[in-house]
Amino acid sequence: MAGRVPQSFIDELVTRTDIVELIGTRVPLKKAGREYRACCPFHDEKTPSFWVSPDKQFYHCFGCGAHGTALGFLMNYDQLPFPEAVEELAGRLGLEVPHEGGAGPAPTQHEAMHEMLARVAGFYEESLRGNERARQYLRGRGLDAEIIARFRIGYAPDAWNEVLRRFGATEESRGRLLGTGLIVERETPRPGSEPWYDRFRDRIMFPIRDPRGRVLGFGGRVLDKGEPKYLNSPETEIFHKGRELYGLHEARLARVKLERLLIVEGYMDVVRLHQAGVQYAVATLGTATTAEHLRRAFKLVNEVVFCFDGDRAGRGAAWRALQHVLPEAREGREVRFLFLPDGEDPDSLVGREGREAFERRLGTALPLSEYLIEHLRSQVDMAHADGRARLVALARPLIALLPAGVYRELLIERLSSEVGLSGERLQVLLAADDASGTPRASRGDTPPGRDRDSADSGTPRRRVPLAGRGGVVTQAIQLLLHYPAIAHDMSSEQLAALTEAPTAGVPVLHELLTQIRSQPTASSAALLERWSQRPEGPRLFELASTELHVPDAEAASRELAEALAGLTGRERRRQRLDQLIEKDRSGSLDAEERAEFQTLIRSLGGAAAPR
Ligand code: CTP
Ligand code: MN
Repeated sequence: MAGRVPQSFIDELVTRTDIVELIGTRVPLKKAGREYRACCPFHDEKTPSFWVSPDKQFYHCFGCGAHGTALGFLMNYDQLPFPEAVEELAGRLGLEVPHEGGAGPAPTQHEAMHEMLARVAGFYEESLRGNERARQYLRGRGLDAEIIARFRIGYAPDAWNEVLRRFGATEESRGRLLGTGLIVERETPRPGSEPWYDRFRDRIMFPIRDPRGRVLGFGGRVLDKGEPKYLNSPETEIFHKGRELYGLHEARLARVKLERLLIVEGYMDVVRLHQAGVQYAVATLGTATTAEHLRRAFKLVNEVVFCFDGDRAGRGAAWRALQHVLPEAREGREVRFLFLPDGEDPDSLVGREGREAFERRLGTALPLSEYLIEHLRSQVDMAHADGRARLVALARPLIALLPAGVYRELLIERLSSEVGLSGERLQVLLAADDASGTPRASRGDTPPGRDRDSADSGTPRRRVPLAGRGGVVTQAIQLLLHYPAIAHDMSSEQLAALTEAPTAGVPVLHELLTQIRSQPTASSAALLERWSQRPEGPRLFELASTELHVPDAEAASRELAEALAGLTGRERRRQRLDQLIEKDRSGSLDAEERAEFQTLIRSLGGAAAPR
């Protein structure tokens, strides 16, 4: 079997193929303004709503929502599997399709990394069997042999170069040890010793596996009081902490049908819960919960329960998690929050009270909407009108993170009864001149341009609901899709500042920027093709086919800079507001701070006070 086709080659194919010509030989296209249209070949219709853009090199049907690049068109219209569609396009351009790692069955670089990690995991397991102190430690933590084997828990010996010596004999294998983070290069080489050393020494080793069971990295815990308590593999080509959930593989293997996931904070929590029979526990890897985590979870189950320590840190983490959950919340998905008594974690609790009592606690977890409102209520004085106004102001940016739909409507309803305003009045307040910088109607369920059915003009009237005055993020993404090259005008500081903003869509924006910057020739079509198989794909095609009223790349670049500044400036103000709210709760604000507070609230979108 041939290796993977490099992404850069696919970029090249969709950039160089003329999509109008390709589709034109299969579907009769008529020129309409700058574009071409036809009756859609993918659904039955009498009036044409299928558009092909020669500028952006993709097609889009406003009737059925079909969209794609030249490659996608061949796959859908000619019913070709991906490799054959690639061959077909390459053939038309007279190109040979390259395959990574040659034509043979040679394992890819990544497969070789997985293999190395699996071998080292085996070695750690073996050293655990030979080390009484480590076994004693795990016994002391209440783990039995079966669960240790199921999670492939091991022990990294107390030595500087055991892994290096055993697995790094050749330059190639050392490259893999470095690439997977198992060994580290010395900053100051010492004469007489190797320029590398083992990352993990004298630690209990928890292999982190992907859902399919391939080892991606490790978490290592000290046996006594050492620092840091947990040492994790670094981010590598195959290990991304913001994506993986520890225990997901084991949860999927559990014989019981997976119906919910319980997201906890620690390795030991997961292992201990599984041992007790709570086999749907997973953990983030010492990082905050990301939207990506959530998307992964919701692919498997419809119910996610977050479990946090009851202390201050736990509450902070819960609130941060909530902000990442909102863009993923919708009807049919249940998200709840469980707070444990102060000083307890799932490990200690389930150890003491057992599975049934622990699962009873899960029954008391707060639904997302309840938690959101309860948290906000605790920050304002509900007895007064301005307290209630502040509640609305605080809720506004959060509600803006929710995709349009029943779930959002219900939450607004709930909020309106809370503050004693009609749902209608509240809608108006929430919608008032949106400064939230967030696409509010994103993922709306009506396909874009549905209203076109009644339109009879020859040019497409393309309005995606949120694009008008909508979010800054949306606008930035749209600018990039139309003028990819402007990504190069941004500074790396601007890019870095962006990662601080927790607004919905920012991760996508950030990834787009990075993609374009690492691929100087990226065209709109190449970008869209890269995203075509991802959940955001349809949305991006939609944005790319929305008309943009910007004359040229230079103007687009200016607008992008402004959008980014707006986003990051907004985040700074939001953090400052959080500080002031915190201070207000613990002590009091002086006159100056009070004034600043008012200004911030207003600028963040909470001006209107309800009557
Ligand atoms: N963590 C980490 N690095 C640290 C400390 C913690 O990555 N220096 C992550 C680990 O995933 C850990 C989780 O955060 O499992 C929770 O940390 P903590 O509450 O400190 O530890 P516990 O999970 O309770 O660990 P243990 O019970 O082993 O003390
Ligand atoms: Mn613990």
